Amino acid sequence: MKAVRMHGYGGVDQLFYEDGPEPKITQPDEVIVRLEAAAINHIDIWNRMGTTGVALALPHILGADGAGIVSETGEEVGSLKPGDAVCLYPPTGCGHCEFCLTDRDFMCIRLRALGERLEGTYAQFVKLPAQNCFPIPAGLSFEEAAAFPLVFITLWRMIVTNAGLKPGETLLIIGIGGGVASATLQVAKKLGARVIVTSGSDEKLERAKSLGADHGINHRAQDFAQAVGQWTAGRGVDVVLDCVGGEVWRKSLASLARGGRLVTCGATAGGQPIDDLTAIFSKQLKIYGSTLGSREEFRQLLSFLSASQIKPVIDSVFPLEEAAAAQRRLEEAKQFGKIVLRIPQ
Ligand SMILES: NC(=O)c1ccc[n+]([C@@H]2O[C@H](COP(=O)([O-])OP(=O)(O)OC[C@H]3O[C@@H](n4cnc5c(N)ncnc54)[C@H](OP(=O)(O)O)[C@@H]3O)[C@@H](O)[C@H]2O)c1
Ligand SMILES: [Zn+2]
Repeated sequence: MKAVRMHGYGGVDQLFYEDGPEPKITQPDEVIVRLEAAAINHIDIWNRMGTTGVALALPHILGADGAGIVSETGEEVGSLKPGDAVCLYPPTGCGHCEFCLTDRDFMCIRLRALGERLEGTYAQFVKLPAQNCFPIPAGLSFEEAAAFPLVFITLWRMIVTNAGLKPGETLLIIGIGGGVASATLQVAKKLGARVIVTSGSDEKLERAKSLGADHGINHRAQDFAQAVGQWTAGRGVDVVLDCVGGEVWRKSLASLARGGRLVTCGATAGGQPIDDLTAIFSKQLKIYGSTLGSREEFRQLLSFLSASQIKPVIDSVFPLEEAAAAQRRLEEAKQFGKIVLRIPQ
């Protein structure tokens, strides 16, 4: 099959579009999906650079997100048949640890996610457990169905389960150009929240406003914590989504109202920020670290996407062959929303 395989850690020059072996079913609960589309996430770049701490077996196929048609099923699979259109839930677990044994395999101590310990979706075929395949929400194309799973499941757990964002509350989203950020804007508006966004680009702030953002702040032009204070008449916001970290973190804490909640799932600008413990205790703040989400949260999300008719924001679509250029676009933060790969048939 055609695939983009990574032959070593480093830059995009480690990605090669080439022929590789097709996956074979080895467990009775597995299926093989012929992919129509895949999507790029920042985790692909961390994995390519070798900064995640997960040792990859090389050559390796990156990609946590995909959608396509089931082509083959293991003998114990009863829920799916060849020809079914599916989107993919990225994580699975070891099956033996405390978390797997209590239906929380997304928290497994030996997590196996697509594109990491499992071969990923930058390929014509992918193998995964049948329980990781879900029907595509009505009205979504394959490209849209590949674009939403990782970012939407992550934000759903952060914003709905952890932060418990309520109608009428104010949410601040840092770096609206990111995939998690733009998806959070869409969900938060449907939930009836007021949303402030930040970006280093005025153009991205305008796009965010067209998606319903109530206020945009260019963090290159002004201190966003001060700007948030002014816009909220000194009160601050109820919830901050900060997946950027680094120097931004302290300003995110400063933007919160008393009793506010901060959610994080990443640290694009640095994982060792200067903290502000005084702000955390004196303002009675809550900080939620989050990664991925459960199958039950994924089911809730699919239902929400159908009911709300939200479609993920697609920045651009590249042919699989041009995965390196697609990753470079994300690395340079040129995107607004998701970058998708179209898989040749
Ligand atoms: N744990 C999980 O389950 C999970 C799942 C998905 C993502 N993540 C993590 O979450 C983070 C976001 O991922 P993503 O793919 O959505 O997007 P991303 O590509 O990492 O985010 C890019 C956006 O963050 C903003 N940004 C980057 N550096 C910045 C800085 N120094 N100061 C201010 N803003 C900055 C930029 O926004 P503007 O372009 O608007 O300026 C940029 O477009 C990543 O760290 C990723 O690894 C974690
Ligand atoms: Zn486990």
